[in-house]
Amino acid sequence: MDRMFFYAHSGLRYLVLLAGVLAIAYFAFGFATKRPFDKGGRILGASFAGLLHLQVLLGILVLVTRFYYPALIGHIVLMVLAAVVAQVLLSVNRRRPQPGYALPLAGVGLAIVFIIGGIMAIGRGVFTTTAM
Ligand code: HEM
Repeated sequence: MDRMFFYAHSGLRYLVLLAGVLAIAYFAFGFATKRPFDKGGRILGASFAGLLHLQVLLGILVLVTRFYYPALIGHIVLMVLAAVVAQVLLSVNRRRPQPGYALPLAGVGLAIVFIIGGIMAIGRGVFTTTAM
């Protein structure tokens, strides 16, 4: 069971990162061309936030089914920050009378920076997988 959660958590990171990169490209294009925030932007933002939340849930399952060591604190703090900053900036943008691309771009961009830092905090590479 612990292996299943670990491998799911390890693999889902690629989907989170892919969703983040696609969202950043779309938001950057929308921001540069000053287009109004549209359905595509909403879907990409929600997909990134949803996958990130699922990853946080899986991370908690890995945490309770495997051993704990102090360096995990850095991983957890940075990942929670990533989820909070993405969710808050996407939600604030949605509630604005005229939603734009700047807040979603900042939210997802910062979240990706925190995620990369969080992976490195446990001595792993963004694209490396630990065999168990
Ligand atoms: C609060 C949220 C999270 C918790 C509690 C958590 C917890 C954990 C734990 C316990 C491990 C195992 C460490 C080990 O065995 O050495 C781990 C590994 C890992 N986590 Fe998380 N995590 C969280 C969020 C995230 C997020 C958001 C991502 C990326 C999007 C992520 C990516 C990874 C990666 C890449 C590994 C290493 C996998 C490998 O070595 O193959 N985690 N996490």
